[in-house]
Amino acid sequence: MNDFYTRRQFAGAAAAGLLVGTRALTSSPRAHAADGDAPRRRTLRVAHLTDVHVQPERDAPAGFAKALRHVQSLADPPEMIINGGDAIMDGLEVGAARLDEQWKLWQSVLKEECSLPVQHVIGNHDVWGWNKKRSGTTSDEPGWGKQRTLDELGLDARYRSFDAGGWHFVVLDSIFPDDENAYIARIDEQQWDWLAGDLKASPADVPIGIVSHIPILSVATVEFEPYFVEKPGLRRSISHTDQWRFVELFRRHANIKLCLSGHLHLLERIDYAGITYICTGAVSGNWWKGNLLHVDEGYGLVDFYDDGSFEHQYVPYGWEVNES
Ligand SMILES: [Fe+2]
Repeated sequence: MNDFYTRRQFAGAAAAGLLVGTRALTSSPRAHAADGDAPRRRTLRVAHLTDVHVQPERDAPAGFAKALRHVQSLADPPEMIINGGDAIMDGLEVGAARLDEQWKLWQSVLKEECSLPVQHVIGNHDVWGWNKKRSGTTSDEPGWGKQRTLDELGLDARYRSFDAGGWHFVVLDSIFPDDENAYIARIDEQQWDWLAGDLKASPADVPIGIVSHIPILSVATVEFEPYFVEKPGLRRSISHTDQWRFVELFRRHANIKLCLSGHLHLLERIDYAGITYICTGAVSGNWWKGNLLHVDEGYGLVDFYDDGSFEHQYVPYGWEVNES
């Protein structure tokens, strides 16, 4: 998420009793094989750690380390981690020194604390300098924009696909420049062409999971309506502005089962047109200031099965706020 609402306001909303629900345990609509069928087999377990927002303040590196240790010490640990984006607190509005500081923290915690393979997604806050006024950048700096992000995350491309556990996974780049908001949630025409081709080339009997930083579909965006009254353009940054194109494309591919995202720091699940859309809370919760509405600091644990079903649960890792 961008800072279009203040973190203080959200903490206030939580304190004012607007807490809704509890952490969710979600499962796929087609969860179990019918009696007499062969039981489904789990082929992959993934931890989806999104919106870590590492920074020197509030002991965030220790929080990130604690989340990684929690994941890897589970009695039944995952085989892989997906970093859902917003690895650092912010790159859009900062100069080189502050950017370096945040990426250094990210790299050192990951190196020290993570022995699992990681698939990375680009988040809006991972991009450098697009708010030129606040960042004081000119765009001529080496690595300005997404190049530094790709370098830090060790990525050759902004978007890609890979296979794991008998599933096909597509990783999207949702972040594009916008004059008013610094960024807008959509994908570019080059990516549309690639996505259509990648989906078409995927065998119909292989289930597909789509991963993006910003949600393709979202109901939780209703929480942000008061902020849209003052700045209607903020809508463009909260969930995909091109969602109708996704819905139309996805209708042609019955093997797409799950769309996984972060960005909102909220936990939601939508089942629409045969696809489940899940937004997975945040490792940083309310940007290291506590829980956000109904969501504690946590990560998603997703089990993928050979029959195209999955199970998702949100796992708080027990972080306590450090004000320093
Ligand atoms: Fe975020």
